[in-house]
Amino acid sequence: MGCWRTRSRARWPASSAPSSPATLHSKFIKGDRAALSAEQQAGRALFRGKGNCVACHVGPNFTDERLHNTGIAWRDGRLADPGAGRGDFKTPTLREIDRTAPYMHDGSLATLEDVVEYYDCGGNRNPGLDGELHPLHLTPAEKRSIVEFLGCLNGLVQRYSAGRHYFLGGSSPLL
Ligand code: HEC
Repeated sequence: MGCWRTRSRARWPASSAPSSPATLHSKFIKGDRAALSAEQQAGRALFRGKGNCVACHVGPNFTDERLHNTGIAWRDGRLADPGAGRGDFKTPTLREIDRTAPYMHDGSLATLEDVVEYYDCGGNRNPGLDGELHPLHLTPAEKRSIVEFLGCLNGLVQRYSAGRHYFLGGSSPLL
């Protein structure tokens, strides 16, 4: 118990450890500029810039692995769930995010559009709110492009059918 990681590391040499599947986004950052549409690229720029998402969602898994209070647990003037202490929760990965609704630790946001609206308002104000959150003043088009970008973080699973192979999971067919 509690030593699964240690055991798995001992059993799988690094060379045969499973690696994360490619995503449209990973193809893009490796130089395949056509992997993302213009709208998705605009969403990526917003994710890294005006949206400030990278303050917490960074690295290959889009998480800084740290705890933050984003105000989700703050209800009716009190903390509905203390999380790790003062309403803080670990930044989750954004890989496969458009396949894993509903969102947040309590499933309180049904869609990615709701998530972007939530951040646009700067999160529920409360005494422990993370300093990186503030109203974003995104336009409707900017909100849509962030949602489109989040759809590019799905792994491209290769499937075979009738002698041809397809990548599934991106928002556009690759083959
Ligand atoms: C201050 C750090 C921080 C910033 C900035 C931030 N996030 Fe988050 N994000 C978190 C944390 C922490 C959670 C988990 C909160 C919870 O479950 O209560 C989360 C949850 C999410 C989720 C839901 C994940 C799931 O599996 O339920 C999505 C989607 C998301 N963030 C996208 C974004 C986007 C898009 C932006 C920018 C507009 C952004 N985040 C900015 C820290 C942050």
